[in-house]
Amino acid sequence: MDTLRIDKDTRLLVLTGAGVSAESGIPTFRGGNGLWENHPVEQVASPEGFREDPSLVWRFYSQRRAGAAPCQPNPGHRAMAEWERKLGDRFLLATQNVDGLHRVAGNQQLVELHGNLFTTRCSRCTREPFEDRLAYPDGTVPLCGQCGGKLRPHIVWFGEVLDERNLLRVGEFLAREDTRLVFLAVGTSGAVYPAAGFVQAARELGGETWLVNADPADNTLLFQHFVRGRSGEVLPALVTID
Ligand code: APR
Repeated sequence: MDTLRIDKDTRLLVLTGAGVSAESGIPTFRGGNGLWENHPVEQVASPEGFREDPSLVWRFYSQRRAGAAPCQPNPGHRAMAEWERKLGDRFLLATQNVDGLHRVAGNQQLVELHGNLFTTRCSRCTREPFEDRLAYPDGTVPLCGQCGGKLRPHIVWFGEVLDERNLLRVGEFLAREDTRLVFLAVGTSGAVYPAAGFVQAARELGGETWLVNADPADNTLLFQHFVRGRSGEVLPALVTID
């Protein structure tokens, strides 16, 4: 297997997707038995769907909370936490995952691009998003204790934009000139933008690009290196850090 060497003059940007948490028991979105195979995405993960039937949306996210709550990080998550410990500010992890397992594994230099499953916010007032691990009973639409508005999961839904501050942080790390750039994507189908466009940005900045995935992704050809396999098995041995 190819190995990815990170020397003292190199920084590492990692992008992860649902495939990284598959070995922890969390379903992916696309492909066999993926979440979107069994749930109408436009009804459960869009602002229109929430307006039309908020209790259906909360049933979907409550099921996901109940399913994810007992899951633990796998060797893939732990490898990325180790890389951060060794690389310090020459490491940044941008995840599309909302399961929170990267933080449980110990990563702190972490950008949760699509939000967090165990965080809730008000759909009306500007109160700060807050930790909420509750799986609400069927038919429940929780209300805001401050304004009485409907609460919603703190997740980026289809048709919604990502938090500019998160994209800025990734953009600044990509554009740094003090070190050589390596971009590694893991467990993602490359189907959803803007995350799927990071590889193009890294290439344009002269970065070295790697993909670790169980199957070919929609943007595999944009990567210089493609290691096919399960991230929990591949990642622990993939990277050597000087
Ligand atoms: N190790 C590595 N890769 C894996 C593993 C594994 N154990 N298991 C599955 N994969 C790969 C699959 O081959 C697939 O290409 O992970 C990828 C998961 O793809 P998706 O299910 O499309 O998930 P992701 O790319 O994270 O989706 C992006 O789409 O639905 C929205 O907001 C949601 O964040 C999500 C975004």
